Formats: sequence, structure tokens, C-alpha cells
Amino acid sequence: MTTRIIATGAYVPEQVITNDDLSKIVDTSDEWIVKRTGIKERHISLGDNTSAFAVKTAKQLIEKAGVEIKKLDLIIVASVTADYATPSIACIVQKEIGASNAVAFDISAACSGFMFALSIADKYIKSGAYNNAMIIGAETLSKMVDWSDRSTCVLFGDGAGGVYVEKSETGGIIKEEIGTKGEICGILTGGYTPCTNIFNKNEEKTDHLWYINMNGREVFKFATKSVVKSVEKVLEGSNINIDEIKYVIPHQANARIVEIISNKLKIPYEKFYINMDRYGNTSSASIPIALNELNEKGLIERGNKILMTGFGGGMTWATMLISW
Ligand code: ACO
Repeated sequence: MTTRIIATGAYVPEQVITNDDLSKIVDTSDEWIVKRTGIKERHISLGDNTSAFAVKTAKQLIEKAGVEIKKLDLIIVASVTADYATPSIACIVQKEIGASNAVAFDISAACSGFMFALSIADKYIKSGAYNNAMIIGAETLSKMVDWSDRSTCVLFGDGAGGVYVEKSETGGIIKEEIGTKGEICGILTGGYTPCTNIFNKNEEKTDHLWYINMNGREVFKFATKSVVKSVEKVLEGSNINIDEIKYVIPHQANARIVEIISNKLKIPYEKFYINMDRYGNTSSASIPIALNELNEKGLIERGNKILMTGFGGGMTWATMLISW
């Protein structure tokens, strides 16, 4: 028995912010951003919060998969930019789509979040607890970006993507590998909320810790190392040759990271599906947005092998090999 993707969906806010737009806000240029990252533009929310993107994605999934809403068992949303600490985005989705019999919760694993969530859903389904699930990665990173910091504000975008999965006899998740390295969690942080209360006399300023802070070079090194190792483990463990893989969907953080991964793994660059030029890094939404695009364009058919791999804050990484 496996867990198979039945439908994909994605939603990004309409407003496009180009590199030239950013060069009017901070000291940067289209040339620098494209050369160092491969990003040309990103979608930025003009007010909608993360749950709005997740709900729009969920509604697409219901329509595309023809989900009987009262039979939906599980909703997991991965995000580091939830509207509230509580309720979770998943519970807001549950309310908005009327999935009254589902269990809904959020998880946090930064840019690897979508695959961590898919991995959890897979275990519930394989254990026999549930028959189906909706997994969504949704982010409004624009609210956690310091728009005066050129080294980070050029990288990120807003949006959501997701899948609806069901228990299946064929296809589905073949092999996965996920991991974390908390020892180096300080190289990428964001969204710090201090302990403030009437008894606390410490007035230390922590506003800057709300923003995404990153040691770009260390994250870069971590990304290339962890993804390469993870993909190698998955391929070895599955006895599937790289030639049999139709597409690799990497986390859309930086085209140079993908080039290095492609060289180290000897996987032709053309096999990597890249759309960061149009969306930037949307964290947990990046892989499902790309998967949905591949699907919508009709570039994948049933039986194709697809490898999804990513890394993110935590630090976290995840790789999944699926049969479409
Ligand atoms: N425009 C122009 N110049 C810039 C910009 C910018 N937007 N940003 C930085 N610079 C300057 C720096 O100030 C520095 O100038 P200096 O040499 O005078 O000091 C110079 O460019 C080089 O800066 P570096 O930080 O060394 O540039 P680097 O080549 O490492 O590229 C980057 C930076 C793109 C952030 C890269 O390190 C990277 O992509 N790292 C991985 C980041 C990543 O993937 N993050 C997200 C993953 S996790 C998640 O998705 C949440």
C-alpha cells in the first residue's frame, strides 16, 4: 500500500515585484540578483495573510480531485509564517472548506516543511489510520523580511502550494529521507517573539530578531552538502537509476545551489524543474508550487518517477522519490 498524489494546487498573490522594483528600495541591481540567485521577480502579498493562500489552494485541490469534503481525513499545513500561533492555518482551512470530519494541524520545518508534512501523512495512511490527506505549504515571507536588508529581501516571495493524497495500490511515495541538524540552527533564523509580560523587567530590544537573519554562505554550504547526501541515500535505497527519473524538483532557493547539486550528483541540469526566476524562495510552498506547475503544464504522466529535494531553516532537509 502506498500514498499517492491525486491532485496538485497552488496560489500566489497577484502583485509581482521585479528586481528593478527592489533596486529602487535597496542598493542592488537586476544583474546582481540574477547572477547570484537566478531570481527575477516574486509575488508579494498586498494584505492577504498566509491562511488565505492556503484556503485558495485547498479549494483547488477539492475541485481537481473531486474530494467528498466530509470524507477528508487529514489536513496538514507547513508554514513558518502562520497568521496566528493559534488557531493553526490547518484549522482555518478546515473551517473554510467545511471539512468537519478531518483532523487538522500545522507543522514547522521551514523550507523542508511540505515534505515533512507529506511524510507524516504517508505514515498515517500506511498505518491504516486515515485514507486520505491534504498537505499544503503556505507562506507570507514578506512580513518576516527586513525590506532594508539587501542581502535577504531579494530572495523571498509569498504563496502556497499543495497536494491531495490517497491510499493506493500503485504509484506513490517510493522512498524518502528526512533529517535535521539543530546544532547549527543559528545560521538561519526568523520570527522571534520575545517573552514579554508585566513581570519581566528586561527591556532588551529584540525587534531585529523578527526578521529573517541568515549567514548566506553557511546556508549555501549546508544546502549543497545535505541535499547531495540525501539524494544519494534515496537513490541507493530505492535501486532506481537516475536515468529513470523524469524530473527533479529542488527547493527553489538559488539557481547556483541547483547547479552545484546537479554537478555533484551528475544529474543533467535539464532534469531540474526551476521556477525561482518567477517566484523567488517561497519556503515550504516552493516545492508544491513547482510540482503543480509541472502537472498543470502536462509535463508529467502517471508512472513517471519524480524526485523532490530541499533544505531549510532548523536546519532541515528532505528528499522524496515518488511514482506519479
Ligand atoms: N545586491 C547587491 N549586492 C549585494 C546584495 C544585493 N542584493 N546582497 C549582498 N550584496 C553584497 C554584499 O554586501 C557583499 O558585498 P562586499 O563584498 O562589499 O561585502 C557581496 O555582495 C557578496 O556578498 P555575499 O553574501 O558573500 O554573496 P554570496 O555570493 O554569498 O550570495 C546569497 C549571497 C545569494 C544570499 C548566497 O549566499 C545564498 O544564496 N545563500 C543561500 C541562501 C539560501 O538559500 N537561503 C534560503 C534557504 S533557507 C530558506 O529557504 C528559508
